[in-house]
Amino acid sequence: MSDATDHALITLHRGDITRDGEVDAIVNAANSTLLGGGGVDGAIHRAAGPGLLAECRTLGGCETGDAKITGGYDLPAVHVIHTVGPIWSAGADAAGRARRDAQLASCYRRSLEVARENGLTRLAFPSISTGVYRFPVDRAARIAIDTLRAGAVELGGVEELRFWLFDDATYAAYEKALAAV
Ligand code: AR6
Repeated sequence: MSDATDHALITLHRGDITRDGEVDAIVNAANSTLLGGGGVDGAIHRAAGPGLLAECRTLGGCETGDAKITGGYDLPAVHVIHTVGPIWSAGADAAGRARRDAQLASCYRRSLEVARENGLTRLAFPSISTGVYRFPVDRAARIAIDTLRAGAVELGGVEELRFWLFDDATYAAYEKALAAV
């Protein structure tokens, strides 16, 4: 299935993250309410069924850049790690962009930390913030790959990190970021 590999630690896939039953957790690009939405969040809630929303209601939301874990309910994956990416603003100044970059990196870092706290070693990610939240995909892909590479080394115990990428432009951006050393 994988088209590109980083010595099997980070792999790129095309398609729907909700169908992945081989990982310990899929990561959701949620919003701060954790009560569902469009995009991948909507797809995950539809596939998981109402039990997921019921558990999410108990969590009290989630800050941008943070991550929280739930069960997977009717999904093939046993867990969902919900993280909240930053909303891009084309008019942001350098400090605003840097803050958003740091928040996006934090999404990936916190997802790894939450996985580790729960003994999970294999995760699947979507391209966080690059849909409804409009984060430029090349910039997001670099941050995603760099943060996961560094986090996997620092935290240890990570066996596999997959990206499920929906469209050609997004796939190409992650392929480029993965190829960069
Ligand atoms: N599997 C994999 N990737 C997907 C799927 C799927 N089933 N569906 C969409 N994508 P987005 P964001 C891709 O908008 O930018 C929601 O309303 C999509 O093509 O899902 O972080 C939340 O509730 C894009 O490449 O997430 C928030 O309000 C990527 O996933 C807001 O959207 C992310 O797009 C979060 O926006």
